[in-house]
Amino acid sequence: MSGVNEIRSAFLDYFKKNGHEVVSSSPLVPRNDPTLMFTNAGMVQFKNVFTGLEQRPYSRAATAQKCVRAGGKHNDLDNVGYTARHHTFFEMLGNFSFGDYFKENAIELAWNLITKEFGIDRNRLMVTVYHTDDEAFDLWKKIAGLPDEKIVRIPTSDNFWAMGDTGPCGPCSEIFYDHGDHIWGGPPGSPDEDGDRFIEIWNLVFMQYEQVTKEQRLDLPRPSIDTGMGLERIAALLQGKHDNYDIDLFSALIAASVAATGVEAEGKNRASHRVIADHLRSSAFLIADGVLPSNEGRGYVLRRIMRRAMRHAQLLGAQDPLMYKLLPSLVREMGQAYPELVRAEALISETLKLEETRFRKTLERGLGLLSDATADMVEGGELDGETAFKLYDTYGFPLDLTQDALRARGISVDTDGFSAAMERQKAEARANWAGSGEAATETIWFEIKDKHGATEFLGYDTETAEGVVQAIVKDGAAVDSVKAGDEVQIVVNQTPFYGESGGQMGDAGIISHDGVKVSVRDVQKKGEGVFVHVAKVASGTLKVGDAVQLEVDHARRGQLRANHSATHLIHEALRETLGTHVAQKGSLVAPERLRFDISHPKPISAEELAVVEDMANEIVLQNAPVTTRLMTVDDAIAEGAMALFGEKYGDEVRVVSMGNGVRGSKAGKSYSVELCGGTHVRSTGDIGLVHILSDSAVGAGVRRIEALTGNAAREYLDQQDERVKSIAGLLKVQPADVLGRIETLLDERRKLERELNEARKQLALGGGAGGNAASDIRDAGGVKYLARTLTGVEPRDLKGLVDEGKKSIGSGVVTFIAVADDGKASVVVGVTDDLTGKVSAVDLVRAASEALGGKGGGGRPDMAQAGGPDGAKADAALDAVGAAIAG
Ligand code: ALA
Repeated sequence: MSGVNEIRSAFLDYFKKNGHEVVSSSPLVPRNDPTLMFTNAGMVQFKNVFTGLEQRPYSRAATAQKCVRAGGKHNDLDNVGYTARHHTFFEMLGNFSFGDYFKENAIELAWNLITKEFGIDRNRLMVTVYHTDDEAFDLWKKIAGLPDEKIVRIPTSDNFWAMGDTGPCGPCSEIFYDHGDHIWGGPPGSPDEDGDRFIEIWNLVFMQYEQVTKEQRLDLPRPSIDTGMGLERIAALLQGKHDNYDIDLFSALIAASVAATGVEAEGKNRASHRVIADHLRSSAFLIADGVLPSNEGRGYVLRRIMRRAMRHAQLLGAQDPLMYKLLPSLVREMGQAYPELVRAEALISETLKLEETRFRKTLERGLGLLSDATADMVEGGELDGETAFKLYDTYGFPLDLTQDALRARGISVDTDGFSAAMERQKAEARANWAGSGEAATETIWFEIKDKHGATEFLGYDTETAEGVVQAIVKDGAAVDSVKAGDEVQIVVNQTPFYGESGGQMGDAGIISHDGVKVSVRDVQKKGEGVFVHVAKVASGTLKVGDAVQLEVDHARRGQLRANHSATHLIHEALRETLGTHVAQKGSLVAPERLRFDISHPKPISAEELAVVEDMANEIVLQNAPVTTRLMTVDDAIAEGAMALFGEKYGDEVRVVSMGNGVRGSKAGKSYSVELCGGTHVRSTGDIGLVHILSDSAVGAGVRRIEALTGNAAREYLDQQDERVKSIAGLLKVQPADVLGRIETLLDERRKLERELNEARKQLALGGGAGGNAASDIRDAGGVKYLARTLTGVEPRDLKGLVDEGKKSIGSGVVTFIAVADDGKASVVVGVTDDLTGKVSAVDLVRAASEALGGKGGGGRPDMAQAGGPDGAKADAALDAVGAAIAG
């Protein structure tokens, strides 16, 4: 019996022996297709090769491709766990011919592999062909010697394969295996075909067309071959199993979850273990390819998958986060074939643990809400869709969790109502989902690539060079010449200008030629290796075929180098300080600053940032040479180089090392070693200085660090220094004493404020410039009335003063008016409690307000306030209140 790993190798070896290039799996996040959410078939990475947009140095290839079918067009999520062959993650083994061999060879290669190499009993095999494909029918007869009844013509789309609504497509031929009459089911095309007896194991697609739009289908330049065989299915067959989940790989994963939960994979628990095993694979591989759980796009699908598994962990009675504990088993099983799993292990583990810890919190709260919402329901009841959606949206409950939780009580969920609410939200998610936005649709760049090949990049070694103009694009169309004032995109056969990638911005500079000057402001890479200089013609006329001088803006490039190298140092220092789960989640290397996003679940403290900055500067001060080597990816990884998750690297990669490690596992080794295509300083001293400005959050579990280097850092710190000096000058102390002086000043200020308040109170109540309080007490119809106009008193202080006034007269009415510098007046009237039955401050203040030209006011019977524009009428207002009291 062969294990999954041996079967995968045997497949690839077989095709290698037959002249195929073994190409590694592309990332699950497609790089060349804006229409796909996840890579869902082996041919995805070759899409542009089939259509002729892209050339490769080989015309036959074989792969074991990571695929995810969840979310988007192909969605198997809901079935996983309950069927024998549904997965969210699976591996597709495939062989490809790009205009090389066609049907005959494809059939021959497939038949020989399964019957000779794999030794499958030919009597148990049968095939389907597209109903009009006589050629394939005859070839199967000839090559495999199959009788007519074992070659079934199928007229439906089952035998016409398409990647999606657009893209390469063609008729296909599927190979089926008969698992035996002890299992129910009929051959393909029969009424019982949905049974489990005849299982499709391999799909051979005869790629002949390209679906351009819904209506338009073109012939491919050369007929090609695309095949797909699910590794899990063929493994089941070769291991004598009927169920994919019984193969060695899944048995190991399920054994791990059985051991961790102490619950056997039997009865109702069987599905839970299967869900966990399947979802562990898709979650781990998606995270390794750079997807993190979030509420939109790919991250949202990942979160659904993870939570579905986590619910099943809870169903199994797991008390603590479970998924991350199973990761080592997955890495043991699959890490050798997919080293990205090993590289990302710490990140995957952290992410799983964090998500499960978080979800467990809402899980309990959500279950609480659910039991409240259904407390009065009896069997046969139905939970409304809005509540189900609230559970989903606010508590992260997938619909099936809610249904499961209610199933035992015979309560159902209004799924239509749920779907309606869900649709609303999905529409929002779709609006946010921008796809990978690659240039696959910009055919012009592929055409240029086709005609002239990729641009040769000279910029690692030089910042000036000559090149020949191969193409000029203006307003989206190729033109022969452009003149002063035109906005253009220029392609040259070779360039020292760096094209934006790996976070480093494109170069700027000048392209010149006899009397022609073109200002380049950015360079972008398009169509697989074409450097596009985005520019404006400053003078002269530039023509295709001109030999031009290219000169990068040296100062700007110098800053880019320093910032890029500093990014590597900060990256390593962060890993040293915070832990190896820290992985780069994106960066921006601009001339004036750098920005670096990392996976880390919590804010980075000021102390941690200071340590990181110190470590980076420690390496800067070493002034150690920065070395760049070209290596194979495997050698680079073996040397411990940090690679970007999800990035697809060529056969040879650049490995940038800098600094001498001084502590821990780095002692005696290179400090930072990364796969990187960017441009770097020659020695770390060229960075000058690293100064970290800030740490902030940019999404769940992602932190952003911003920093400056070299002159920008120095200028920033100089400015800070200047500020401190100016402050010291104002305070008339030494810069070192600024803080102490400011503290003293603040203390003094607080004391003065207190004193000032006290003085105002005295002024208001006790006389002073305004006279004597006693002299301001009048009699108003037998009521004691203290009336006064105050200057230099803030309106907000009036109420406090009126309170004091009330206390000082014991029984009566107090009216204070504050007149501001602009002549506006504020008035507060207070009535002591014993008199509020007789007169109301609200009525009295209205009389004052009217006199002041204002409108009413408000408050309570014992205290009311108002205002008016006419402060000069303050005395009249005081009198008006007096008159109102007297009635
Ligand atoms: N691309 C074909 C499939 O996915 C082989 O079935």
